[in-house]
Amino acid sequence: MTENSNHPLSILSASEISDAVSILKKSNKEHEHSSFSYISLNEPDKKSLKENSNLEKIVKIVGVDKKSNGFEAEINISKKELLTEKKISNKAGPTYTLSEIFGAIELTMGDENYQKALEKRGIKELSLVQIDPWPGGGFVNKNIKSGNRALRAISFLKDSEKDNAYARPIQGLIAHVDLTEKKVVEIEDHGVVKVPEASARYDKDGQETLRESPKEIAITQPEGVGFSVKDNLISWEGWQLRASIDPIEGLALHQVSLNDRPIFYRAGLSDMVVPYGSSDPMHWWKAVHDGTEYGFGTMTNSLTLGCDCLGEIYYLDAHKLAFDGSVETIENAICIHEEDFGVQWKHNDATQMGYNEVRRSRRLVVSSFATIGNYDYGIFWYLYLDGTIQLEIKLTGVVGISAYHADIHKSGQDFKISPELASPIHQHLFNVRIDWDLDDGENQLYETNVEPLPINNTNPEGTQFQAVSSHLKKESEAQRNIAPEKSRTWKVVNPSKLNKVGLPTAYKILYGNTPTLLSNPNSPPGKRAAFAKYNIWATPFQNEERCGGGRHTVMHSGEGGLEEITAQDRNISECDLVTWLTFGVTHLPRPEDWPVMPVEYCGFHLIPVGFFDQNPTINLPPSCSSKSKSNKQ
Ligand code: CO
Repeated sequence: MTENSNHPLSILSASEISDAVSILKKSNKEHEHSSFSYISLNEPDKKSLKENSNLEKIVKIVGVDKKSNGFEAEINISKKELLTEKKISNKAGPTYTLSEIFGAIELTMGDENYQKALEKRGIKELSLVQIDPWPGGGFVNKNIKSGNRALRAISFLKDSEKDNAYARPIQGLIAHVDLTEKKVVEIEDHGVVKVPEASARYDKDGQETLRESPKEIAITQPEGVGFSVKDNLISWEGWQLRASIDPIEGLALHQVSLNDRPIFYRAGLSDMVVPYGSSDPMHWWKAVHDGTEYGFGTMTNSLTLGCDCLGEIYYLDAHKLAFDGSVETIENAICIHEEDFGVQWKHNDATQMGYNEVRRSRRLVVSSFATIGNYDYGIFWYLYLDGTIQLEIKLTGVVGISAYHADIHKSGQDFKISPELASPIHQHLFNVRIDWDLDDGENQLYETNVEPLPINNTNPEGTQFQAVSSHLKKESEAQRNIAPEKSRTWKVVNPSKLNKVGLPTAYKILYGNTPTLLSNPNSPPGKRAAFAKYNIWATPFQNEERCGGGRHTVMHSGEGGLEEITAQDRNISECDLVTWLTFGVTHLPRPEDWPVMPVEYCGFHLIPVGFFDQNPTINLPPSCSSKSKSNKQ
């Protein structure tokens, strides 16, 4: 759909990907047998790009060879040459490839003990069994050798090809698969529990009746849309940015600026984790890193006009490297459109007989959806006329599930969501890395807390309170959590740019309520997903520090994560600043989440604080639409 240009941050084209793979395979024939999980641009940092916008394109390819050893290779696609190739230690291995995932399913399906366990449950038709492999790191089965790659699998039963298998968990049956040895090393069987019977389809043919269609809402822009897109560069109402799909992070934004003033150079999902808090044998060990273990961005959906996206839409395609080395195009991967967003500002002046000034708000939406197993996640970035930037993650899909049985419902760890099913308590914790470039210079980080003042001569009635700001100068000082009772916020500041009131220009990070990690910090998920211990971390920029949980997390114990990254306790008092923001939801499943979950939301806002000298939307013209109707006309 879009022509690729030669900008160093353009989306990789299908031919660039296939060229890179052939250069790699030509230089090392062994790669004919490798399987791949990742290709991405080695993005230039902001300094290199400011100095030279004509940089050569270098890409990185990651995968596993036929002996299950991880590797990564860098290829200069401008010069068509292999630059480096090195092994990745399997103690902290690269993302699972689809061939490993399919392999785990096949090995489990073919295992004699697994088939016997199915027979014990009266299941004979293997083609209706759905096997879901989950990452094998954190709690490694004793029969799996250290350094081997592994998955463990749980199973579900469909009643027909199109059925929702999650309605019928095959309770208490877990297969441990060694991917390096290519064998099932143990079938863990916690005893037969009756397979639930009810069906739980969510497609339209699966419903007894459908409600009448709501009246159509048509969104049209007869004068055309207000944004323009050239290559992957988007311009709208003074905003400029580039968008791309990273194989791990999914939707990433680059070079976000407003009225030619840079705000941040890059933002993307540095990692995420979904730890389960149940004691159920199907779930207690689950704490998947959907980014680095499963390749969140490679699971990006092709969006459909009028269904996923409503109105006047511009799409960007993305291309990914399939496990077999071929190129797959994700059509309509990124959706771009404008939305009316209610009232931007208003005042009704009662002293002037109800003189009413009102302006409408609108926003530019840049979004994508990725499906990772049973869950679907939307990444929605919103840019507003008043300088606000919002990230909203939408969570939907099918919750983790167990067959309900007598032992399961004794505590607040598992929730009965249908007469035959229980769903375990769990968290979805996201970490977004923002590489700041606020007002084109070095940045600082401040924390502000609002505190009541003590009663004394100057505050005799105890009515006074004040904001107290402190400059966070070292990495260790910037590991902080929200405190709603103190209205705590963090502010990214450019100390060398002053606004009209004489204060440095800034953007504030605003959270709603958000949890941090509940797993014990010394537990395997506590160590592997230590990024989720704090709502904010800050570091001085280093190009290779991109993933909050570590770049390679398959079978890892936390290597390379934010705890290790910040262990040097570097100075961040005035630097090329990177913040890492953790937020998410702690999910107590409810009957309404079944058979598919209505969207739940989480995220944060970035709002200008003295970045402008006054309300930047004061000059918006009134926009009273003559096409509006009411019953009073
Ligand atoms: Co959930």
